[in-house]
Amino acid sequence: MAKIIGGLTTSHVPAIGGAIARGVQQEPYWKPFFDGFLPVHQWLGEVKPDVAVVFYNDHGLNFFLDKMPTFAVGAAPEYRNADEGWGLPTLAPFKGQPDLSWHLIEHLVDREFDITTCQEMLVDHAFTLPLKLFWPQGCPVTTVPICINTVQFPLPSAKRCYALGRAVGEAIRSWDSDKRVVVVGTGGLSHQLDGERAGFINKPFDLKFMDSLIEDPQWATQFSIHELVEKTGTQGVELLMWLATRAAVGGRVRKVHTNYHIPISNTAAGMMALEAL
Ligand code: DHB
Ligand code: FE
Repeated sequence: MAKIIGGLTTSHVPAIGGAIARGVQQEPYWKPFFDGFLPVHQWLGEVKPDVAVVFYNDHGLNFFLDKMPTFAVGAAPEYRNADEGWGLPTLAPFKGQPDLSWHLIEHLVDREFDITTCQEMLVDHAFTLPLKLFWPQGCPVTTVPICINTVQFPLPSAKRCYALGRAVGEAIRSWDSDKRVVVVGTGGLSHQLDGERAGFINKPFDLKFMDSLIEDPQWATQFSIHELVEKTGTQGVELLMWLATRAAVGGRVRKVHTNYHIPISNTAAGMMALEAL
């Protein structure tokens, strides 16, 4: 059966793509952010995952406000990126892992998750940039994207996203394959891009949340979506992706490395790498 080697979580700000395209990772603004990934590159070189299951939220590239699934799972042989209007270069397609996609879909529907199945799926900065951050030399893993709606209310609760993550973990571990799987979650941490609280950041909450993912992963499920918006900002709710990731990894974890840097653009940029024990 397949093995989950751990979880990787990171923020996904479009400006990161601009910094990579311009090669300015060593400039003072960017260095504390990009340096946070160096120990993770070393770990990934040692544990060598074959597949990444990626929890992320689409921001209007594949799903627009008129048709918005709560949960969507990619089942394509490859995933293309496209121009989102940030001026970022479009990337080569990412390879899919359709047999795992269908196994996941079967398992999730069996567990009563009413997901949308996508045999075509454009992937936006929330999918592409984290893979570039974790594997700057090129993406060596095949991928399964799982999209959680955090842009159009009503959003799924933290408790529901945790349950989704747990079911995804069960599905991966029951996949008849000898592949090594890493679970990736992208978004957050605290940020709000518009409205009266634009620029809002909540460092104490972010740090508490990151801590909780190590020893007490269900801690954030106590909060309603509105409480999470209050505590982390309208876009800070993207932390749901981190929660689903941690639930998928399950069990006990070892902290490989974490980083937290304020701000990147409008966002409190966090990163965690957790090894499954
Ligand atoms: C920013 C953050 C995001 O999560 C996003 O999807 C777009 C922009 C920002 O801070 O600029
Ligand atoms: Fe985002």
